[in-house]
Amino acid sequence: MIAKRMSTIDVSGIRKVFDLAKNLKNPINLSIGQPDFDIPEEIKQTGIDSIKSGFNKYTQTQGIPELNEALKSHIIKNYSFTPQKTMITSGVSGGLLLLFMALIEEGDEVIIPDPYFVMYKHLVKFAGGTPVFIDTYPDFDIDPDKLKKAITKKTKMIILNSPGNPTGKILSEESVKEIAAIADKYGLLIVSDEIYKSFSYDMESPSIASYYPEKTVLLNGFSKNMGMPGWRIGYAAGPSNIIEEMIKLQQYTFVCAPSFAQVAVMKALDFSIEKHREEYKIKRDYIYSSLREAGYKVNKPDGAFYIFPECPYEEDEFIKNALNHSLLIIPGSIFSEKNTNFRISFSASMSTLEKGAEILKKIKNG
Ligand SMILES: Cc1ncc(COP(=O)(O)O)c(C=O)c1O
Repeated sequence: MIAKRMSTIDVSGIRKVFDLAKNLKNPINLSIGQPDFDIPEEIKQTGIDSIKSGFNKYTQTQGIPELNEALKSHIIKNYSFTPQKTMITSGVSGGLLLLFMALIEEGDEVIIPDPYFVMYKHLVKFAGGTPVFIDTYPDFDIDPDKLKKAITKKTKMIILNSPGNPTGKILSEESVKEIAAIADKYGLLIVSDEIYKSFSYDMESPSIASYYPEKTVLLNGFSKNMGMPGWRIGYAAGPSNIIEEMIKLQQYTFVCAPSFAQVAVMKALDFSIEKHREEYKIKRDYIYSSLREAGYKVNKPDGAFYIFPECPYEEDEFIKNALNHSLLIIPGSIFSEKNTNFRISFSASMSTLEKGAEILKKIKNG
């Protein structure tokens, strides 16, 4: 009865974690993939006013023109990239689905640096593509030789996610330029998911779009930086012919992104989240040094709100041990073809982080 394509989407890993967590009364939750702050009042109010004023009908499929115009200027200013076309999507997830369905043919290969954001693998398969992983352990840099080796006649695109989930890695300018040159040589499309761009702690996160504008589709959104993951709003920017196809598919799927949210995020485009960034930087430093002191092998994340240390012993046993102490963390195998690491989200209160760090110290040696 169920279509075969549904079997390409495997949620068993995530489900296993949630099943294990179900029995915990008051877990110390370091698994959360969303910000722990709420939408800025002013932006919330704009959304409310928009609903009250009756702006509740369908909008244009590609999003309201005022937002697309403001977005284009924002991208030119912040990404040194002049996109041919933009559209408003139902979050970055909506953009990913439209993009993959519009571009991937049966058997096309899509290069995904491993570890990766969990949706990529499953959505690529859902669209009929074959994910090809390149191992970026232990420092999560993309090795240009490994990238070149992974390219075949069937390769269609490379997915980049910098700052990255689950590693917090920001690709350097040099690395981004190198990847752009390789993509250009082989005529490959780049999908650049920059949803954590505002969470960059020591340096600006360079965008590949500014080095490879003709064949990059930039995806971003407001779930993380504006604390509005439930509002389902994001955008795609890139070559007109690709964005046009995505709009065509949006017309018969999502129809449009939520109307009130489109009005509200016009204000969010240039809204500073400096205060939150500073807070997250303190949390990043705290959890990194606690893990180091406890003897974990771990890289300092440059951005996002995740850290991805090595499990000190077998993954299953380690995660279970954490759960036995009421600590909820995510096994690395959910984001990787390997099962050697685990993800901590530091998008939590300082007291939760302190409790978590204490337990991690306790369970380090079994
Ligand atoms: C790398 C990455 N891309 C996309 C998303 C989805 O974002 P959205 O809420 O805009 O669909 C997430 C959410 O966790 C993410 O981590």
